[in-house]
Amino acid sequence: MEPINLFDYEPLARERVDPVAWDYYQSGANDEVTLRENRRAFERIRLRPRVLAGVGEPDTRLTLLGEPLRSPILVAPMAYQRMAHDEGEAAMARGASAAGAAMCVSTMATVSLEDVALAAEGPLWFQLYVYRDRAVTESLVRRAERAGYRALVVTVDMPAVGRREADLRNGFGLPPHLSLANFAGALAEEGRVAPGESALSIYAAHQLDPSLTWESIAWLRSVTTLPVLLKGILTAEDAALAVAHGVAGVIVSNHGGRQLDGVAPSIEALPEVVETVAGRCVVLVDGGLRRGTDILKALALGAQAALVGRPMLWALAVDGAAGVERAVTLLREELSLAMALAGRPTLASIDRSLVRLP
Ligand code: FNR
Ligand code: LAC
Repeated sequence: MEPINLFDYEPLARERVDPVAWDYYQSGANDEVTLRENRRAFERIRLRPRVLAGVGEPDTRLTLLGEPLRSPILVAPMAYQRMAHDEGEAAMARGASAAGAAMCVSTMATVSLEDVALAAEGPLWFQLYVYRDRAVTESLVRRAERAGYRALVVTVDMPAVGRREADLRNGFGLPPHLSLANFAGALAEEGRVAPGESALSIYAAHQLDPSLTWESIAWLRSVTTLPVLLKGILTAEDAALAVAHGVAGVIVSNHGGRQLDGVAPSIEALPEVVETVAGRCVVLVDGGLRRGTDILKALALGAQAALVGRPMLWALAVDGAAGVERAVTLLREELSLAMALAGRPTLASIDRSLVRLP
């Protein structure tokens, strides 16, 4: 039977993906406390629906950074998508476009950012890792601008790769037929390594800049005309600094529980960020969103939109672009139904009174 919710894709994908790649996709850091809590936190939040609100046909559309979108659902940036499906990021982009969702493409993609742009019909954002070599970083920015990407998402929660123990046990790295398609030579290589190590951790330690500061964000803003968003903000303090540095948005995220284990589930960190930002930039959230009701809760707590990670990889593995299109559509339909049942006909009518926190 066709999957009827995002969870249905998980066991189907597992049958199709190489076990080492599967471990990489699924894993969180250390004891995976934050990974588990990302889901549980949604289950603890209660909804307070209104009735007789004349909901009719709910309207999930919005404008985000000047871009009209069909729903507040985006595909999160995820590395190495050709391990899930031969067409990788290109199929993800086609599926997201077909469902009217924006996609954020990882620096560590296995299809070049230009080829992903050719495959996409909808809006793309580019997720940027800042390389030690600023010329490399600037060249990525220029290429993303030229290829028509609409925003830069700088991931700020990875000065080093979190300790993902499954990857260490497996000696995780890319299979020999894949490479980091945005690069050539040593910058593109991340093959399997000996057990006890992770090729991603070694690569990041060599190539990515572990010493980023708020000045790096000022530098980045000075070299691009694109709106800059920071991904990986979890506190009011950093949200205030982000606004002070003129960013277009922040993404409240713990990287899907893959970086610092023990941080709050992102939905719990959202309110303090929303309160601090106070409308001065866009606030998005990711981590554990699997249901339309999760999106509804995130919006009620003040996010303008949400990003979805792993389930999109599962859907990609199961049925390529068609799987991604269907998964996004299922989630949008769940959101629409949840809006109707909650008495909220538009996104603008979703407010803080819709939720009760534990
Ligand atoms: C990620 N994530 C990520 N983030 C990023 O900024 N750049 C990247 O290259 C990647 N790569 C990546 C690979 C895989 C396999 C996963 C699962 C995640 C983090 C991602 O953008 C997002 O923050 C989380 O995945 C959201 O949590 P859920 O929806 O997976 O629970
Ligand atoms: C990850 C990196 C690549 O989470 O962001 O695996």
